[in-house]
Amino acid sequence: MTKHILILPGDGIGPEITAEALKVLECVKARFGLAVEFDQALVGGSAIDAHGVPLPDETLDKARGADAILLGAVGGPKWDSLDMAIRPEKGLLGLRSGLQLFGNLRPAILYPQLAAASTLKPEVVSGLDILIVRELTGGIYFGQPRGVRTLENGERQGYNTYVYSESEIRRIGKVAFEAARKRGGKLCSVDKANVLEVTVLWREIMQEMAKDYPDVELSHMYVDNAAMQLVRAPKQFDVMVTGNMFGDILSDAAAMLTGSIGMLPSASLDENGKGMYEPCHGSAPDIAGQGIANPLATILSAAMMLRYSLAENEAADAIEAAVSRVLDQGLRTADIQSEGCQRVSTREMGDAVVAALA
Ligand code: NAD
Ligand code: IPM
Ligand code: MN
Repeated sequence: MTKHILILPGDGIGPEITAEALKVLECVKARFGLAVEFDQALVGGSAIDAHGVPLPDETLDKARGADAILLGAVGGPKWDSLDMAIRPEKGLLGLRSGLQLFGNLRPAILYPQLAAASTLKPEVVSGLDILIVRELTGGIYFGQPRGVRTLENGERQGYNTYVYSESEIRRIGKVAFEAARKRGGKLCSVDKANVLEVTVLWREIMQEMAKDYPDVELSHMYVDNAAMQLVRAPKQFDVMVTGNMFGDILSDAAAMLTGSIGMLPSASLDENGKGMYEPCHGSAPDIAGQGIANPLATILSAAMMLRYSLAENEAADAIEAAVSRVLDQGLRTADIQSEGCQRVSTREMGDAVVAALA
């Protein structure tokens, strides 16, 4: 049966990088005879410009109907002064919560060819392979009440609510424990249980769940220490599991260990394995339109999509091998440039991956 893939280019560098990922997907489609069809829709700022809202009904309907979704990035200075409720980012958050994509996998893997591109010493990052499991549809991102209110003294006060229910903690815990079981057998749960009650409960549930996973070694770390340990000795980690906001921050830090945020893909999965796939980075307004963005995080996200949502492991492996081959050839976009390497544009990088696939 034909699988339907929805491509949401978004804003800024989004259209530039998804175009390269689509080229790569068309190539594996032909090579492996995949029964897949592609469709596109608007989300974020581009949807605001066309329809006045960041997540038009048509886009949400298409996303619901698709077997998998590949998203570029949303947002940019053009829309930054809009009301929170209709900002581009709300389009992305609406997709995540609308489709219940609570399980966000952000693998930070250092390609050996990029050891010199990391800002950390090669011996600190060489062989790095960690997986951050981020809860994506709860926590302070979605907690109620939220807003800005006026106090009795006339002063305004902004407020958000950090909440997690037991069931939300359990379902992300399951994703993390299962992942750790299939990898190195180590899970570090990151919280702020020395200050925040919500994460005291988080820690309790993780400890309880650990009894069902005797093969997984569970540890706990406060988020401030975790940020420090990620740049001090990142290889101590195998799988990390954390809430929405801590995961957002820690995954950007982890990205830099791999050489560039332009290398970090992600999968956002629901309970049944349906997913949305996107690079961890944003719309990079500072370089948008220049044709210099690194498309590899998006291309690697497409590989994750083939593996997790379409069970096309061979095609996924082929894309990852092609990326490695292109790096072997010394081709580098600006963000991962190092001495003796050849600087290429976004399009040239996409073309090189396609050529390496052939
Ligand atoms: P950003 O990730 O867009 O950019 C941070 C820095 O990394 C910039 O210097 C940028 O040039 C660089 N960078 C990012 N991706 C790159 C790539 N593929 N190749 C080379 N360099 C790359 O983060 P920001 O500047 O904080 O946010 C910009 C906009 O993106 C905001 O509107 C933000 O809300 C949005 N955003 C969207 C997503 C998403 O759609 N998933 C994620 C993060 C930020
Ligand atoms: C990410 C982004 C988003 C987030 C924003 C754009 C809503 O930073 O995917 O990491 O905070 O989750
Ligand atoms: Mn982020």
